[in-house]
Amino acid sequence: MPHQECINCKSQYDIDEILYFCKKCGDILEIKFDFKELSQTLSESNWKTKPLSVWRYRDFMPIHEAANIVTLNEGGTGLHRSPRLAEEVGLKELYVKNEGENPTGSFKDRGMTVGVTKAVELGARHVICASTGNTSASLAAYAARAGIKCTVLIPSGKIAYGKLAQAMIHGAKVLQVRGNFDQALEFVFKLAEKHKSIYLLNSINPFRIEGQKSLGYEICEQLDNKAPDRIIIPVGNAGNISAVWKGLTEFHQLGFIKTLPKMTGIQAVGSAPIAQAIKTGSDKIITVENPETIATAIRIGAPVSWKKAINAIHESHGTAETVTDEEILDAQKILARIEGIFVEPASASSIAGLKKLVKNGIIDKDERVVCITTGHGLKDPDTAIKQSEKPIEVDAEMSAIEQALGLQTRKVILAR
Ligand code: F0G
Repeated sequence: MPHQECINCKSQYDIDEILYFCKKCGDILEIKFDFKELSQTLSESNWKTKPLSVWRYRDFMPIHEAANIVTLNEGGTGLHRSPRLAEEVGLKELYVKNEGENPTGSFKDRGMTVGVTKAVELGARHVICASTGNTSASLAAYAARAGIKCTVLIPSGKIAYGKLAQAMIHGAKVLQVRGNFDQALEFVFKLAEKHKSIYLLNSINPFRIEGQKSLGYEICEQLDNKAPDRIIIPVGNAGNISAVWKGLTEFHQLGFIKTLPKMTGIQAVGSAPIAQAIKTGSDKIITVENPETIATAIRIGAPVSWKKAINAIHESHGTAETVTDEEILDAQKILARIEGIFVEPASASSIAGLKKLVKNGIIDKDERVVCITTGHGLKDPDTAIKQSEKPIEVDAEMSAIEQALGLQTRKVILAR
């Protein structure tokens, strides 16, 4: 069995011990496998015959019993070759890994299927998270699926309506905290610390990261067991970039891929502590007190997994970039209009970042690039409607409809 390990002082903890921070130094934890043991398990397993999904990788997941698995069929999302978008930005080979195709419409489901399964294994009856929206939607769904209680803390005002609707309809207790995400997360940490019966499922929980690492595995398998040259990914609390990198390094260590991609994180200008640290060559972040961006999902000023994210970017010789709200909305529209893929604003930041990095010569036009789009566009219909042409209201008459469409209206004279 794997164990939990501190990313800083390397203290080890049992896989079934409930803790979110290292007891010795307070840093965050990750799950570590014995690769000899894992290789042995894999060589005797039929995992390659299973369909592409998170649970194809059951052998790579720190879960005791298959019977405990709480699933809605997550993962196995499309890796869409996007030639028109490639041409638009000036690349030869570009793919969009569309995580909006997951059961609740975001990549969070990969983490929640494993995280909530672990909660069930640990006997938890009540799960909690702070969220900018998608985490709460996903946790609410998986808690409902498991038949356990769910509480979510969201920042007041700035959460996309689709996500709120999901958390509410799945029966979660929704608290709108008068403050931002970072403040909500602090309360969730304190609650889980004080009330041991509440199990915390933000991405600081290393079991969430285990589920999300499958995103890295899938991309390589969809590219015929090759890693792309670069993966571009939106960054908020920084769990996902860390998870994808973990998956990639594990596949590399197991010999399934020969090379590793450059991890490229994108943040919105108004909430970019990690991108700033990378740009200034610092090993530490300066948190942003009042983060702002239209991409509410990544409106985060104090990302908890910043150290893992910076490590991933450095180890992979990648980079980080910031994009403005205008660039994000423009990218959202372009992706929807020329590739038929509708994503929420935070997700479009990976496309906006791609465009900028190609333009600035940081990304070479010969690179094989995968952009991850993290959440479905219907999560935030308000933003989509605001930046699109309004429907034209017409009378229920053929001539009015033709006129609105710019078609010539001709009187049809019936010959007698
Ligand atoms: N994209 C979307 C659509 C998200 O919802 C999030 C995070 C991210 C990107 C960033 O991922 O935090 O792992 O770096 N949303 C969280 C939430 C914070 O509460 O739903 P990250």
